[in-house]
Amino acid sequence: MHTTKSSINIQSVKGKGSMLSEPLILLDNKKIKSLLSENIKSLVSIEILETTHSTNDYLKTILEKKSIIVCLAEQQTKGKGRLGRQWHSPFAQNIYFSCHYPFHKDVSKLTGLSLIIALATISALRVYCGENNFVIKWPNDILVDAKKLAGILVEINTDMHGLTDAIIGIGINCNMSNTDGDTIDQPWTSLQQVTGKSIDRNKLVATLITALIKYIQQFEVSGLVHFRGEWKTNDYLLGKSVTVISGGNNELTGIATGINDQGHLLVKLSDGTIHAISSGDATLKKL
Ligand code: BTN
Repeated sequence: MHTTKSSINIQSVKGKGSMLSEPLILLDNKKIKSLLSENIKSLVSIEILETTHSTNDYLKTILEKKSIIVCLAEQQTKGKGRLGRQWHSPFAQNIYFSCHYPFHKDVSKLTGLSLIIALATISALRVYCGENNFVIKWPNDILVDAKKLAGILVEINTDMHGLTDAIIGIGINCNMSNTDGDTIDQPWTSLQQVTGKSIDRNKLVATLITALIKYIQQFEVSGLVHFRGEWKTNDYLLGKSVTVISGGNNELTGIATGINDQGHLLVKLSDGTIHAISSGDATLKKL
């Protein structure tokens, strides 16, 4: 997704000057907290910024490493996507969300974390919308009708004792207009387009935090294996023909048959062999 520009949709009304085409409702810490349970409120602190380069990068500058911290921004000037891409982040229209989560575990225990974050996000979207047409394209793109609605960028840091904390970045297209998204170079959609309604970002953020904590706590207890069934019901690629590019220009084409216990994509080739593809080593060619 490409370039960041900041704009608000303004309509001119004959005889009355200009007005916003949608009421501008900003992110509001109090409102979000009022929608969280006492338990979650006691676990999570929330910081809202008007603008920042990237909410993921902002959280890296925070020295307090012991607690769960959520950072939201109205706008990102250098929003980051996976694989070095940019994430389109216009002002006050979408959700740009990052969460510092102190796992303090060996990195091997976090295998598949980014897939779990995709499941948590999709679950929050369903709770918020009461709709069910969201799917996950491995490893963690959330799509509706083959168009990208949300993306996830998990960054893991390991300290000198080998213990980890994660910065979990989630971008959800909410009220972004076609004009604002016109420079995005892949098919995309927004929740407003999906539901036909303006999105209450504060309510969606509270729903997202609630789902995230629930899924991560379960993941800490039972790992990715617990979620294999849920993954299967959300897996956009299952049974589809895919081409994977690894090690520069090596291409592998086969049928996607799900994931293994490490969260690697399984691809069955025409000779019957099954290859496990790690998201760190390979990218999917456009379907
Ligand atoms: C992708 O699909 O490529 C991942 C997109 C992740 C975007 C979010 S927005 C909040 C957080 N801050 C960033 O700079 N990126 C993530």
